[in-house]
Parts: sequence; structure tokens; C-alpha cells
Amino acid sequence: MSVSVELGDWGEIPSGWNRRHLLGIEGLSADEITLVLDQAERFKSVLMRSDGYENRNRKVSLLAGKMCVNLFFENSTRTKTSFSLAARRLGMDVIDFSASTSSLSKGETFIDTVKNLEAMQVDTIVVRHSCPGTAMLLSENICGHVLNAGDGAHEHPTQALLDILTIRQRFGRVSGLTVALVGDIAHSRTARSNIWGLLTLGAKVILCGPSTLVSRQWESLGVMVSYSLDEILDRVDVFNLLRIQFERQVIRPFPSTREYSHLYGMDSGRLSRTKKDVLIIAPGPINRGLEVTPDVADGQHSAILDQVTNGVAIRMASLWMCMSVKKQ
Ligand code: NCD
Repeated sequence: MSVSVELGDWGEIPSGWNRRHLLGIEGLSADEITLVLDQAERFKSVLMRSDGYENRNRKVSLLAGKMCVNLFFENSTRTKTSFSLAARRLGMDVIDFSASTSSLSKGETFIDTVKNLEAMQVDTIVVRHSCPGTAMLLSENICGHVLNAGDGAHEHPTQALLDILTIRQRFGRVSGLTVALVGDIAHSRTARSNIWGLLTLGAKVILCGPSTLVSRQWESLGVMVSYSLDEILDRVDVFNLLRIQFERQVIRPFPSTREYSHLYGMDSGRLSRTKKDVLIIAPGPINRGLEVTPDVADGQHSAILDQVTNGVAIRMASLWMCMSVKKQ
């Protein structure tokens, strides 16, 4: 038997949220971030329902009849699937738009393509593009809601929110924790969104990696920069191990991947020198043996798969909250 949960079970959108789009974490207040995290916790309880196979209903029909388009111009496994699933769990219809087989390849402009989609009564566009600012550009040109699923090396807001939710679930707080973002800070949108979110919520942030990928300029925002992973091991609560974004690099940032993993890879030797309750997270995809060894990625300190579960809840919260705000 399948029973839909109605809007009344969830109450109204929490006061204090009035954004129609989710374009980035920069500029969100601590209260706004907390509202999304809290809402995601509520949705997660629906996703995790397991009251016997027959009665298990993991859907809420809050956005039934609404239409969402996934507009992905870069590869994705987790984010695209997670947004699709989140939209479906909210009762929406979802179209996965494939840029390579569309009329874009016949010369149609990006904005014209999206306006045509909108003319088919699409309510929300989830967009990933290699060009920073794409989500913002869309939000200025269409009537519907826009959620940024990653724009170049700029921002990836839902990834940061799910990372932060995972941290909050494990420690019960974010404020006062020391979080190290390790790896390719220069090209990582996940890093940027995490920096804004973590600082806003009162965490200490350390950026760690080779000097070719971690600029000292970041210190002006109030983060620490370290070029030695070994030196920071014992004072960090959370390590967020970022993938080296080879596809965004024009020059080789280090002599070899072997050297990188030797200096910055998280392995069991390094793990044994961290705090007892250290948390290991990674946005994925992970390159086993490069940023993290398999035993650590699959070990008891790792929350890499919890992040994926939290991702669906965060995207449900983001969709529902943005779509509940009407155009002025
Ligand atoms: C991240 C991305 O695409 O920016 N991955 C993701 O969304 N799951 C990080 C990455 O690709 O390394």
C-alpha cells in the first residue's frame, strides 16, 4: 500500500527563506544554510523509511505535477542521479536533457534552448556547465527556478550542503570544528562552496595541497593554508579529500600522481596519526590510491556513502524550498 504524505505534514516553508534559485553558497547566511540542513534532515527521515517492504513509502507529493529539467553539459554520476531522484521523491516529472544530442549542436544558443524548454512549461532547471556563472545567467533570463549543479570551478552549492550535513550529523555541530580541504583547491567548485559554508557556520578551514594548487591568497578570507598534510594531521576533525581536476588544468600541477599520493594521499599510516574520531569525506568520484587508499575510503572513519544518501535529502530540500518562493 502506498500512502502519500501531504503538504500539511511538513508545515510551511520555514520563515527566513526567500530565494527562488540556489546559485551558490556565497552570500547565504548561517540561518539560511541551517534552514536547508534542517529541512534535509526531515526529508531524510522519509528516504530512510523501512517500516516493512509493503508499507514503505519514500515519496512526498509536495511538488506533484511540477516539471524539472536536468541540463548537464558536463559528466556526472552522483549529482545528476541525485537531483533526478530528489525531484521524483517530491512527485515531480523529470527530463534528462542531453546537450550533445540537442539542437545546440545545430547552432541554437544556450538561452534559446532553455527558453524553448520553458515554453513547454518547465518549472525548474538544474544546470551543470563548465562555464562559471552559467546558473546566474540562466536565472536572469528565465522565469523558472534555477539550481546550480556545478558551474566550472566556481560553485557547487548542493555538494557543500551535503558535505556540511554529513559533518553536522557526525559531530552534532559545525561551529568550532577544524575542516581540512585537501587537494586541488584551484580548480574545485566543491572547495569554494565548502569554504563559504564552513566559514559562515563558524568552522575553521585549512586548505592543504601543493603550492601550485593552493594559493596563499585564500588566507584573506580567514582560512589557513598548509602545504604539508603531515603537519596538520593531528589537529583536524574532518578531512575532505578533493579529486584532482585534471580536466580543468592547462599545465601539470605536480611532477607525477605518484608524488602527489606520497605527499597528499590519505592512507592508513596517516590516518593513525589523526584524531580518534576523525571524519573522512570526499565529494566523489574518488580515485582510489591517489587521494585516498581503498582501506581508508571504505574504513570506519569514512562517510563517503553517507554523503551520497544525504545528497538526495539536500536536493529535495533545495528544490522544495526554492520552488515554494513565488516570483515578485
Ligand atoms: C564534484 C564535481 O563535479 O565538482 N563531484 C560531484 O559533484 N559529485 C567533484 C569532482 O568532480 O571531483
